[in-house]
Amino acid sequence: MSVRQAKVITVTSVKGGTGKTTTVLNLAGIIKMRKMKILIIDLDLYSGGIAASLNIQIEHDLFQLMDDLNNNRFHNLEDYITTYDEYIDVIPAPKDPKTAGKINSKYLQVIYAKAKLKYDVILVDTNHNLSDINLVNLDYSDQILYIITNDPVDLKNMRTMVSIYQDMDKKNYKIVLNEASDRQKDYFSFYDIKNIIKDNIDYTIPNSFYIKNIDKYVLDGKILTLDPHIRKKHKKGITNFEKMVQSILKEQKK
Ligand SMILES: Nc1ncnc2c1ncn2[C@@H]1O[C@H](COP(=O)(O)OP(=O)(O)OP(=O)(O)O)[C@@H](O)[C@H]1O
Ligand SMILES: [Mg+2]
Repeated sequence: MSVRQAKVITVTSVKGGTGKTTTVLNLAGIIKMRKMKILIIDLDLYSGGIAASLNIQIEHDLFQLMDDLNNNRFHNLEDYITTYDEYIDVIPAPKDPKTAGKINSKYLQVIYAKAKLKYDVILVDTNHNLSDINLVNLDYSDQILYIITNDPVDLKNMRTMVSIYQDMDKKNYKIVLNEASDRQKDYFSFYDIKNIIKDNIDYTIPNSFYIKNIDKYVLDGKILTLDPHIRKKHKKGITNFEKMVQSILKEQKK
């Protein structure tokens, strides 16, 4: 058996509600089609949506895993995994928000070290706050995807983030413009957006990928990019997700 060494891919943003969780799941769908084994970790500690979106019953959550590591009760990572299907596993965010505040970022490294040997890709969903756990996670991420929208506040915050990356001379991030989650907004052209954020837009989730009945898929625990009807009707969006995955899996840590 070959030894795995998964990449940690984090999906984040500088504003809430830009489409992170949906993107994590869409990427998982595309990666699964490559027959690669994926672990999704939900680091949106207070309002994680991965388990609910996949309609899976949480068996153990991230808090239990960290609590057991802290108290020497941990044996196998498998004991803390909730399975979606043959290729996609999940470590859900804490079920009880009261325990979320007790999560300690120092155990992330241990969890990644163990998970990297068992999976091909670790996909991390986050919230947009620059909390301790998010900052530590960014440090351990091989690739970071910023999901932005055509919104002035979002773009100005992204500009600030871009300058932070430039100051640190870090380039392991990509910017994804999501045009699909809020079709009403199209104030700025591509040219304007690049001027505001002072960086490139690496990928887009096109306007045409707007899924009118998205909640129905969520209720059924279905991943959009795996659905035959969506794959047929929204080819441009699917192609863009495929391009994202192709380049993410190729990039090396810088
Ligand atoms: N392609 C799409 N078509 C239609 N609606 C979408 C699409 N992608 C996302 N949405 C909707 O946009 C909203 C925000 O998406 P999502 O929950 O993925 O964002 P988020 O960045 O994870 O939010 P939060 O910061 O609250 O975690 C949701 O209601 C979702 O259903
Ligand atoms: Mg989310």
